[in-house]
This record gives sequence, C-alpha cells and structure tokens, in this order.
Amino acid sequence: MKRTLAGLSCLALAASLALAGCSGDEDDGPKIVVYNAQHEQLLEEIAPKFEEKTGIDVELRNGSDLELAAQLIAEGDASKADVFLTENSPAMSAVERAGLFAPLDAAAVEPIPAQYRPESGLWTGFVARSTVVVYNTDLVDPADLPASILDLADPKYAGQVSFSPTGADFQAIVAAVLDLEGEDATRAWLEGLKANGTVYDGNNVVLESVNSGEMAMGVIYHYYWYRDQAEAGENSDNSELYFFGDQDPGAFLSISGAGVLENAENPDGAQQFVEYLTSEEGQQALADSYALEYPLNPAVSLEPPVKPLSELQPPTVGITDLDSDTVIDLLTETGFL
Ligand SMILES: [Fe+2]
Repeated sequence: MKRTLAGLSCLALAASLALAGCSGDEDDGPKIVVYNAQHEQLLEEIAPKFEEKTGIDVELRNGSDLELAAQLIAEGDASKADVFLTENSPAMSAVERAGLFAPLDAAAVEPIPAQYRPESGLWTGFVARSTVVVYNTDLVDPADLPASILDLADPKYAGQVSFSPTGADFQAIVAAVLDLEGEDATRAWLEGLKANGTVYDGNNVVLESVNSGEMAMGVIYHYYWYRDQAEAGENSDNSELYFFGDQDPGAFLSISGAGVLENAENPDGAQQFVEYLTSEEGQQALADSYALEYPLNPAVSLEPPVKPLSELQPPTVGITDLDSDTVIDLLTETGFL
C-alpha cells in the first residue's frame, strides 16, 4: 500500500515538476546524485556497498573529468549533483576555483594524509594512480629505457612511444610536467613526443599496442597493466612495467578526488558518501575491487604483486597547482587535440 501511494505521488510530482529521482518501482528513501568521472566499473562495485550500509541510494551520472567539471560549472546552483568524483585532480581544482564545493566534514578528510588533499578542505583524494611506461619485452632491452619521462622526446625514441593524449589520465601527466618543468619545457617535450609517438584512443589500446609489438613502449597508469595481469594477461603478457621513481616527472602520482557540492540536495548523504570512500571500510572495498588503484588511507594497502605505494618515489606536485587550462592549450598548440 505504502509503495503504491509513494509511486502515485511520485508520478503526480513527476508530471507536474519533472522531478528527478522518482523512479517508480524504487522506494522514495534518501538518495544522492554522484557526477562520476572515475571509472564507471569501479563505482558500480563500490556504490552498492555504500547503499547497503546506509540505505542511501546512489544515482551515478558518468562522464569524463573535464566534461563533468565543465557541466558542473555551467549548471552552477541549478546542478542536481551532490558529489563529484574524478579520475585525476585537475578537474577537482577547476570546480574548487568555481566556488562550487562545500567544506568536507573532518571525518571525511582526516583519514587521508595531507599531501593527498588540498589545504582548503573542499575536496579530498581517495585513490592514487602511478604513471608508468609499459614496454614490450621482446623489443626493449631494459638498459635502454629512458631515465626520465622527458627523455621520451629524444629522437633516439623515434617511432617507439604510444600514448592517449585525448584522455584525462595523460592530460594529468602533462599537468605534472608543466608544474615541475614549466611551460617552455613542457611544450618542447610535447613536440618531441609528437615527433616520436603514435597516438591511440584510450590507455587499454596503448597497452595492447605495446603487447602486440606494434609499439615498443607506452605511457599509461599502473593499473591498466596489473588489471590485465589479474585477468588472463592477454594484453600484457609480452610486456613489463617500468617505474621511473627518483622524483622524476614520470613518477607522477595522480590523485582521484571526491567533493561535496555546496548546492547538494542531500548534503548529509553526500558527506556520508565521501566519508565512506576515505574510511578504512571503504578504502578496503576499493582495494579489494577490480580497480588496483592505490588506497590513500594508510590503514589499507594493495596486495602484491602491485608495487607498493611507499616505493614509488613520486615528485612533489602541488595537488591544487595542476593547471588543466594551460594543458589543453599546449596540447592544442602541439596538435594533439
Ligand atoms: Fe584511467
């Protein structure tokens, strides 16, 4: 009876107000809308665990980092979003600069070490991904691997490098190079990559190009390779990962962010969701998922064979300094976009 009434009132409201979230056969309990630029598959694994724990429904609206950031900025106060999740931090910074985030509750940020979140407390990192080079073991002698990611622009690597410049992942790596090396050096590096490299659409395709021997090396994040290994290894068995370490720009650790929108319709549910993501329980769920991205709560870590977070030696990059606008300009200027 209750269900029928709820359904009816929902229908009536939907007709008059085009109210979002009345999905007929669902109950009318609390819910949150998550603008999700993280991998869809990851949130499809994690959101049900949060729903089960809290009784709060999660509605995912999926897109890419900069696309959803631009949408939030365009929607402003009218946005239906309660939470924003990204793959990389430049899109979080863009939404922060637009003044759209509410401060996170202390319980949501405290489990995450300070270097993985902005001082403002307006969002937090929740997982990290390491930049790596994947190389074909038949084509590349490890002794010939570049000491720095900047060396991939050297003519000696002509015809050898693949990457996916249309993706937010590669764009975050460019943002790190820009922060560490400056604009002129980054432009020169991109011009060298353009001359040496072949562009693919997506990191999985980069991985395949290296595994098949079409390309000798590719720039990706670590989890693409480990995930394939955890499955059948079909697209990675002929390759290995190379970690630059040594604070090289190529050891850049990209931070996935989570924040609550100031105009959230369910601010309490939104805060609970971010708190879940950073809590030991949520971080363990992330670690146990297919994702193989690094949890940031020190109480949780990935199992071997994934190289431990503590051994990555990433460069120090200001998490809020990553400048997606200049990156887009440079990629456009150098003909990648
Ligand atoms: Fe990715």
